Amino acid sequence: MSKPVVFLTSTIPEKGIQLLSDHYTVRLDRGKKWLTKAEIMDSIHDAAALVCLLTDTIDREIIDAARNVKIIANYAVGFNNIDVPYATEKGVLVTNTPGVLTETTAELAWALIFAVSRHIVVADRFVRNGLFQGWDPMLMLGYDISHKTLGLIGMGRIGQAVARMAAGFDMKILYYDLAEISLDPSIKAVSVSLDELCTCADIISVHTPLSKQTYHLCDDSFFRKCHRDTVFINTSRGPVVDEHALADALERGDLAGAGLDVYEQEPVIYHKLLHCDNVVLLPHLGSATHETRENMAIVAATNVIEALNGRKPPHLVNPEAYA
Ligand code: GLV
Ligand code: GLV
Repeated sequence: MSKPVVFLTSTIPEKGIQLLSDHYTVRLDRGKKWLTKAEIMDSIHDAAALVCLLTDTIDREIIDAARNVKIIANYAVGFNNIDVPYATEKGVLVTNTPGVLTETTAELAWALIFAVSRHIVVADRFVRNGLFQGWDPMLMLGYDISHKTLGLIGMGRIGQAVARMAAGFDMKILYYDLAEISLDPSIKAVSVSLDELCTCADIISVHTPLSKQTYHLCDDSFFRKCHRDTVFINTSRGPVVDEHALADALERGDLAGAGLDVYEQEPVIYHKLLHCDNVVLLPHLGSATHETRENMAIVAATNVIEALNGRKPPHLVNPEAYA
């Protein structure tokens, strides 16, 4: 009997591909990135599993074309790119890669907090452009981090990791989450309303998944309630933030600055953001370390192997698919 086909829309770190190749025929075009919908549809008809990226929109049409697919293994923790209710209806398992990228993403949020609070990117440009003429009492004054109030929107694994890392900075921590969360007892943090969070926090960092409930959670009225020294960070999903409202707030001087790793229309950056000096813009690097990307590949491959062996994959997001 021929081996089942596992179709990868993109190359992932080799360890994951190796694990899959040990058991299956891996279908992968190493020379290509970001397949079109037609290219995915063309390659999926006989596949038993699909490994996809957060940039692949896995909609009804693709799920219908994937007649033999038992599992869609997203190479990401967020899975808003997949029509999960439809996959569930069709009995297709959907998995993600949580856990392994928690600290890595939290560290990137901290990198942005530092970069924005202390003008790191602008300052580097200034030095490279030959503008540094000597120590200046008034040059590029930023904002302290220690003893400030950190406001976390979304207190899942990543939000809690950000909070744990704040321990070294003696911060007061506020959080807002739409869901009931179980807070690690070692974290001292206070649950507040979104209004209270934006009026009281000095640094706001977003760690919520994208859903209908969180779309534009940070909108014009949100930014108007922030105080003028607030640093705003988003490493979750772009559409949680109304970018136009954020850019307007920055332009009005209603915020100290912003650090963004994610955008509403990736890879398009709203032009006004490109022209704000007090914004640090990254190309969606939350989980981008050697260690973590390799671990994500192993987790995604393990999800596939378990599912194709008839066992429950470890990171199943739609257990209802078994019903
Ligand atoms: C990255 O954004 C992820 O969801 O893993
Ligand atoms: C993701 O891992 C989260 O729950 O924050």
